[in-house]
Amino acid sequence: MKNDFVGYYAKITEDALKKYMCVSDLPQKRLYDAMEYSLFAGGKRLRPMIMMMTAKMLKKPIETVIPFACAMEMIHTYSLIHDDLPAMDNDDLRRGKPTNHKVFGEAEAILAGDALLTKAFEIASGYDVDGVDRALVLKAINVLARSAGADGMVGGQDIDMGGNLSDLEKLKFMHSLKTGAIIRASGVIGAILSGADEGEIKAVDEYCYNLGIAFQIQDDILDVLGNEESLGKPIGSDADNNKSTYVTLCGIDKAQRLQEEYIKKAKASLNIFDNAEELLSLADLLVNRKA
Ligand code: IPE
Ligand code: IPE
Ligand code: MG
Ligand code: MG
Ligand code: MG
Repeated sequence: MKNDFVGYYAKITEDALKKYMCVSDLPQKRLYDAMEYSLFAGGKRLRPMIMMMTAKMLKKPIETVIPFACAMEMIHTYSLIHDDLPAMDNDDLRRGKPTNHKVFGEAEAILAGDALLTKAFEIASGYDVDGVDRALVLKAINVLARSAGADGMVGGQDIDMGGNLSDLEKLKFMHSLKTGAIIRASGVIGAILSGADEGEIKAVDEYCYNLGIAFQIQDDILDVLGNEESLGKPIGSDADNNKSTYVTLCGIDKAQRLQEEYIKKAKASLNIFDNAEELLSLADLLVNRKA
């Protein structure tokens, strides 16, 4: 995934995350080390990017959403740490480095995930940006919580662990939760904090819903056709774990066609906005991405 704005938003995210994570010498320093290890291992910072681009599209400064963008990236990073654990996908490589449990051990990796999830809500509930109504902040926290939990990412991971999804609708539902939910919430929170009206929130939601499905379809394709070095994570993990994916259910060609359809739908949802260029380019960039 390459484009000028990608590096720009990733750098802003990284700098903001550092401010939340600079910790000196606490007895639980090892926990902070484990959290920072995964948080600063790289990553595309897609979810913060979507949140900031949404604010910009709605003509608000990106500072309006930075605390929530960091919170979301922490939740995403926690989901990756736990996803890689032996009890889940049992993977050894993430963001180009040994997975968290390989370096810190399973107990610390579980705690690092727990602590990142909790830190996200500490940051979100401590949000204090001038000019943003507290009712909107509360609404954003509610969206954040729902997207991470049993009706969002964790629910999707649960269905994924169950395996054996034999029809496309069920697979799509699983993808819409495990990957789609926090991508969707990133756009929706960006819109809420920017004071968007219901129609605008719905349009952003639809864009992110379709983008999220397309994003996970490509993730499934890359697990088969990708390159470990550019991906920074192992290929063949889904096959090793007997996962149902778009590739196992439809084959590569149909999966690619479906991905393109979802990207098209995502872009069409933004037609009510007069300055959606960045989110439109982001959608184009995600089609056939290699990393
Ligand atoms: C990986 O997400 C897990 C999925 C939901 C497919 P990303 O591909 O966004 O991972 P990073 O953040 O760039 O490492
Ligand atoms: C899991 O999907 C997405 C998460 C909620 C972490 P995958 O298990 O396919 O993600 P990768 O391929 O390991 O990044
Ligand atoms: Mg998984
Ligand atoms: Mg995995
Ligand atoms: Mg995958």
